[in-house]
Amino acid sequence: MGTMTIDGRKVEFTDEKNVLTIIRKAGIDIPTLCYHSELSTFGACRLCTVEDDRGRMFASCSEEPRDGMVIFTNTGKLRKYRKLIIELLLAAHCRDCTTCEKSGDCNLQALAHRYGIMKVRFDNYKETMPLDFSSPSIVRDPNKCILCGNCVRVCSELQAVGALGFAHRGSDAMVMPAFNKEIAETDCVNCGQCRVFCPTGAISIRHNKSEVWDALADPNVRVVAQIAPSVRVAVGDAFGLPKGDSTIGKIISVLHRMGFDEVYDTTFSADLTIMEESAEFLDRVQNGGKLPLLTSCCPAWVKFAGEQFPEFSENVSTCRSPQGMMSAVVKEYFRENGGDKKTVMVSFMPCTAKKMEAKRSNSFTEGEQDTDYVITTSELIDMIRTTGIDFAEIEPESADIPFGLGSGGGVIFGVMGGVTEAVIRRLAPDSSKATMENIAECGVREDSFIREFSIPYNGMDVKICVASGLANARKVMEQVKSGEKEYHLIEIMACRRGCIMGGGQPRLAGDRTKAARLNGIYKEDKASVIKKCDENPMITTLYDGFLKGKEHKLLHNHEFNAC
Ligand code: FES
Repeated sequence: MGTMTIDGRKVEFTDEKNVLTIIRKAGIDIPTLCYHSELSTFGACRLCTVEDDRGRMFASCSEEPRDGMVIFTNTGKLRKYRKLIIELLLAAHCRDCTTCEKSGDCNLQALAHRYGIMKVRFDNYKETMPLDFSSPSIVRDPNKCILCGNCVRVCSELQAVGALGFAHRGSDAMVMPAFNKEIAETDCVNCGQCRVFCPTGAISIRHNKSEVWDALADPNVRVVAQIAPSVRVAVGDAFGLPKGDSTIGKIISVLHRMGFDEVYDTTFSADLTIMEESAEFLDRVQNGGKLPLLTSCCPAWVKFAGEQFPEFSENVSTCRSPQGMMSAVVKEYFRENGGDKKTVMVSFMPCTAKKMEAKRSNSFTEGEQDTDYVITTSELIDMIRTTGIDFAEIEPESADIPFGLGSGGGVIFGVMGGVTEAVIRRLAPDSSKATMENIAECGVREDSFIREFSIPYNGMDVKICVASGLANARKVMEQVKSGEKEYHLIEIMACRRGCIMGGGQPRLAGDRTKAARLNGIYKEDKASVIKKCDENPMITTLYDGFLKGKEHKLLHNHEFNAC
């Protein structure tokens, strides 16, 4: 606790871990490339350097706050110093900014503009390295790496995977998988968090936009879209709308204008998932099946579980993910009702790992790939920009029937704990306001990355754990493995806070954006007329009609396959 003087103004502080945090709290956006509040401090880029009243310069991210400190954040000396750092980084960086996937979303580019660097004075002495296209989800371009180490730390500290590391020394230093393997040969789970934390274009999304444009231009195919719950709260701010507001109606409208024949809402198949998963859970409880039941919606988690905890593979729910269920059901529906036209299924997802899931051997029905293309939210924003449509002004439209109506329980799949909350709603006797509020307060929405709680059900105390971030998942699974903890149900989301912070969402999301996306999801749930899957009339119609006898074929994985 104490007071420091920042650029002549007194600023009080309490338990902030470094000077940088206090500067930012004082409303000054000091430049950084290697600092992230959720990662360990690396102190490599030196851009956050400030000057004290004796002229000493130090990296503010690595300095503990002291009472009485006097610091300056924007002196001539500092501006010159930061400009030189940026120039040196650019010197060893490829110069294809105009065609770079991250152009406009690159911290290095933004800093070059901010410090008025119009020309790079130094020649690029680095040899050009090949790009790694081995992953279905991400592309690694070592020529754009600035050695900030963010990807290395997020992969090991938050995701406990460790697919990337530093190799070589000095000017030869590089970030790469061990033994310079291709990323697809490592334990990479395709979560895309390395891409979210990468400040440049060194790690980007593996795009599928052109395949989708080609399908839309083909008169011989029916192109069908599904939109995942968390996409709706991450698009609007790219078009000047308030952060976190749901724009589902506008997204549906713009997809219709692009030429999609049908646009469905993945909240519908999230309801299907809960119908199946809660039935599977009760069956395992009543008939002595493998417990705890591990959720299977998140493909990065399923891959992690399969590779790191193979002894628990039978615990993973056999239910397909909402993406998988929707695509399998839609393709079957049009095989039966759609004439000769081939159906191309495009899913709009917050997640890079969904691209991997779509290619998994258990994502095929009768030899046909269920989901043809996965487009992340960031790619969707690019596609909307390509159309030139004024997204902010476009009139919202409703999703198409019969697969366009979902419950509030389907919407909350977008946040950590949402799957579990939807399961509890399914088990609840009614959907009254009081029941919904009681469920929301049972511990499932607690503000932590590992949530443990229990709920009473039929005379039994159902023990539940919800965790997000794979490092937290590892912790939970190690405790279950050692017998230290026992649960009946475990929900894991690979990305911290759940899909709203998925690897395919627009990056540069600060705390305000995270909170706004979370609130946007809960707000849409609150506004929904249908709260639980079994009260969704389209779901009951489907079970009583078209789906009868096909539940196993279309809604379940018939083999465990992690990747
Ligand atoms: Fe402090 Fe990089 S942000 S050294």
